Order: sequence, then C-alpha cells, then structure tokens
Amino acid sequence: MFPSKVGHPIHNFFYTLLLIPFILILIHLHYIPQLRTTLSKSSNECTGKYIYIQNIPSQYNTDLVRDCDKLSQWTDMCMAVTNTGLGPNISNINNGWYNTNQFTLEIIFHNRMKHYKCLTTNSSQASAIFIPFYAGLDVGRHLWGTDTSVRDSDSMELLKWVKSRPEWQRMGGNDHFLVAGRVTWDFRRIMVSGWGNSFLNQPETQNITTLIIESSPWHTNDIAIPYPTYFHPSTKNEILSWQEKVRKISRKYLFSFAGAPRSDVSSSIRQKIFEQCGLSKRCKLLDCRNDGNECFSATSIMKLFKSSIFCLQPKGDSYTRRSTFDAMVSGCIPVFFDSESAYFQYKWYLPKNYSLYSVFVPEDVVNEGKVKLEELLSEFSEGEVIRMREEVIKMIPKLIYGDPRVELEGWKDAFDVAIERVIERVGKTRSEMKKGELIEASDEKESWKYGLSVDGGKYKWDGFFQNHV
Ligand SMILES: *[C@@H]1O[C@H](CO)[C@@H](O)[C@H](O)[C@H]1NC(C)=O
Ligand SMILES: *[C@@H]1O[C@H](CO)[C@@H](O)[C@H](O)[C@H]1NC(C)=O
Ligand SMILES: *[C@@H]1O[C@H](CO)[C@@H](O)[C@H](O)[C@H]1NC(C)=O
Ligand SMILES: *[C@@H]1O[C@H](CO)[C@@H](O)[C@H](O)[C@H]1NC(C)=O
Repeated sequence: MFPSKVGHPIHNFFYTLLLIPFILILIHLHYIPQLRTTLSKSSNECTGKYIYIQNIPSQYNTDLVRDCDKLSQWTDMCMAVTNTGLGPNISNINNGWYNTNQFTLEIIFHNRMKHYKCLTTNSSQASAIFIPFYAGLDVGRHLWGTDTSVRDSDSMELLKWVKSRPEWQRMGGNDHFLVAGRVTWDFRRIMVSGWGNSFLNQPETQNITTLIIESSPWHTNDIAIPYPTYFHPSTKNEILSWQEKVRKISRKYLFSFAGAPRSDVSSSIRQKIFEQCGLSKRCKLLDCRNDGNECFSATSIMKLFKSSIFCLQPKGDSYTRRSTFDAMVSGCIPVFFDSESAYFQYKWYLPKNYSLYSVFVPEDVVNEGKVKLEELLSEFSEGEVIRMREEVIKMIPKLIYGDPRVELEGWKDAFDVAIERVIERVGKTRSEMKKGELIEASDEKESWKYGLSVDGGKYKWDGFFQNHV
C-alpha cells in the first residue's frame, strides 16, 4: 500500500501525510513533562539524577495556597501567592520582575520541581525523594498563636504520613528532602512555651534534608539556600541583559542601607549603622520606620541598590536578610557584620573566600565605635571595586530562582544548584549506609571552617582598626 518510489510528487505527498502523526506526537511530548521524562530515560542523561515527588495530601500544600487569606495576619498573602508564588508581575520595569514576598519560596521551588527534567513516577528509580510540604506557610499561620499544639499539629501529621510510606523504609528517610521558606528558628521551638513549632526537632526531620532560607549553625539537618528575590527571568537573554545593565550602571552612593533600627536592643548594630549612614553624605538610607511602603516596593529597593557601590547587611531579628540577595542581584557589593549572615550559611552558593565578593567588618568593632564605614569603604581602589562587583554579577544567575512556569534553557539557577547538591549529599549518605558507617552529615559541620580562617585567621581589617582607634 505504501508508495514504493521516492521522488514522485504524489509519493512525496504521501510521505508528508505519514509524518504528520509523528510531528504531532513530538509536539505533545514537548508539552508533557512526564512523557518527556520517559523519553529522556533512554538517553541516560538522567541516570543518577531522578527525583520522585512524594504525593502528599493537598492539605499540606495547595490547600494552604487556596486558603491564602489565612496565611498571615500581617500581609495580604493572596497577592503574594499569585503567579506560582512569584507575586504580582511588575514587568513594566523589565521582563521577569515580580513583587515577590520573602516567604513564598516553597511554592516557587515546588513549581520549579514540576519542570525538573529528570522526574520519575517510579520511586525506586529515584536518587532523592522530594516532599512538597509548604512548611513555612503552615507554621506562618500560627506563629503568633499561643497554642503550641495547634502550631505543631499539621506538620506532625505530615511526618507521620511520610514515615508510613514505602519510600521511607528504603533509607529511613535519609534520601528525602523538603524546602522551608522561613528561618530555622520558626521550626525549632526550644521551651514548651517558646517561639515556633518543633518540626525540625522531630526524629524524622533529623534524616530529611531541609533546604531553608536561614539554617542553624548547631544542627546538621538544614542547609541554607537563597531567599527569593524580585527577579525571575525565564530566558538566558533576560539574565545576560540584566547582568550587562548592572555592570554599566553608574552608582552615585558609596554605600546604602534599607531597613529599620532595632531600638529594643541596646547594643544593636543597626542603631550604629543608622547613626553612621545618617552622618555620611555618601550613604543613602531607606528608613523602614518612616518609609514603610517604600521598603516593600521592589522598585524603590532595587533603585537604591542599583545606585550603591556597597550595601550594608547587618543582622536584624535573625542573622540573614533577604536584602542580601536583592543587593547582590543589583550588583551591589554586600558588607557583612556577622559571619552567620552569609558565609556560614550559603556555602553551596558563595565562594569560600569571602573577600572576593564582599566586605567583612566584625560587629564588635562597629559597636565599639572603632571604625568609620565611610573611610573604610572608600579605601577600596576602583580596580578592587570593579573586581568584587564582577564577582557578584557573575553569581547572579545562581542566586535567583528562574520563572517556575517554564523549563530553563542554557543556564542554572539557585534551584538547579540545590538539586545537584542534594543528590550529591544523599548519594554520600547512601554509600555510607551501604558500608554500615554511622550516618552523620559531616559536610555541614565543616562549614564552620570556611569562615574567617581564609586570611590566615586574621581579619583583613585588623591593621586598619589599629590605626583608627
Ligand atoms: C507582565 O506584564 C507585562 C505588561 O504589564 C506583560 O507584557 C507581560 O507579558 C507579563 N508577563 C507575564 C509573565 O505575565
Ligand atoms: C521501577 O524501577 C525499578 C528500579 O529501576 C525497576 O526494577 C522496576 O521494574 C520499575 N518499576 C516499574 C513499574 O517500572
Ligand atoms: C533515621 O535514619 C537512621 C539511619 O538509617 C535510622 O536508623 C532511623 O530509624 C531513622 N529515623 C526514623 C525516624 O526513621
Ligand atoms: C581571597 O581573595 C582576596 C581578594 O581577591 C585575595 O587577596 C586573597 O589572597 C584570597 N585568599 C585566599 C586564601 O585565596
């Protein structure tokens, strides 16, 4: 029945007809991640990279988003959860920009995961098991409630559910991971009446790897990953043109700070920063006591950071700040006052040698009034500034989360880095378990060594302080 000769116009026409179903199938495969996964299995690019998404009940994720009006008593989270957690589109500035809330990482990460190229529906094939629990949205509903049993209840039920699954038995949960979009202290209630729930104190969560915006220096079961910023590009070109833009921009302020002082803490570094910035003509302050709305506006925050050479990142209620990432995305060189604010945290993301991309000024030295930030920062030569800024700009792609609604082509974002490292970490644990060695997530303990020893155990600024006392 098939035409036997090629070349005749009618025969060609038949061939074209025969091709149509194949073309349709290819088009379909392109749009159905699950099928495409099956297809790519044969090509082996996924060997050792498969991830299985645990099919947890919707009360632990999508129902929380549906009931967004109950997520926070302070913020309108219903705006924040739109666009798969990116928040309202502010692309009138530039493509890929959203007014992203700092607590929506769980939704963004989950949706990025849905586009991960090596998903499997066969859990025994998976290198790691993802639990798409929105841990931070869950606890965020009850943080200011007094009843600790209410705060704990859903997360305990979730753990019971996960533990009862056959996937748990394989490695006692040591191949499981999840994302928590709030700081670790919200999940580590110490005293009966203390702050937070006790999700990360449970026996199950000692085995699960928790990726979190601020980790605990005293525990090995959580690992810090970047806060979400306002920038969620979907193409490599959007990234490249942004990098080019912040590289070329002229910056009129030597340094800047966006935040509020903590007047309740007498020795607060923030108080000192406010004083120093207020007294310097070369510092720009976005005072979040007075300019509250500006502080929640992506546009004014990015405008400030884009006009500044250095951005001060003192700790606030906790060690880390979302602002660190907003600043770095703007090509602004971060200034840290506590090594817990970044160096000991984001070790998967930041170079060990912090002097390459940031300035460290020990908090005590500022509190004791031994240093003038303006003098210290203006000592950097133009060449040094350019080198450090270039280091920051190079890091941008891996410090941000791409648009979770598309598959990213040709670049890696913070999600990709996290997945690679989780698979590596689980692989290490797996081989230790096979050898029967005691499980200990030793890599995190070593993170302490990264900190201040890089300059031979001395602060780069020691000499400077001695001269300026
Ligand atoms: C965001 O809004 C702009 C204009 O307001 C529009 O052109 C663009 O397509 C929107 N982007 C997305 C991803 O919705
Ligand atoms: C799942 O994967 C395992 C290990 O690769 C394999 O032995 C098993 O046959 C697979 N099951 C299904 C239903 O494909
Ligand atoms: C955690 O992992 C260890 C080591 O595999 C295992 O002995 C223990 O039972 C696991 N804990 C839970 C709660 O399953
Ligand atoms: C760290 O980076 C700084 C600045 O580039 C450089 O001077 C120093 O030698 C580096 N230290 C190490 C241990 O590589």
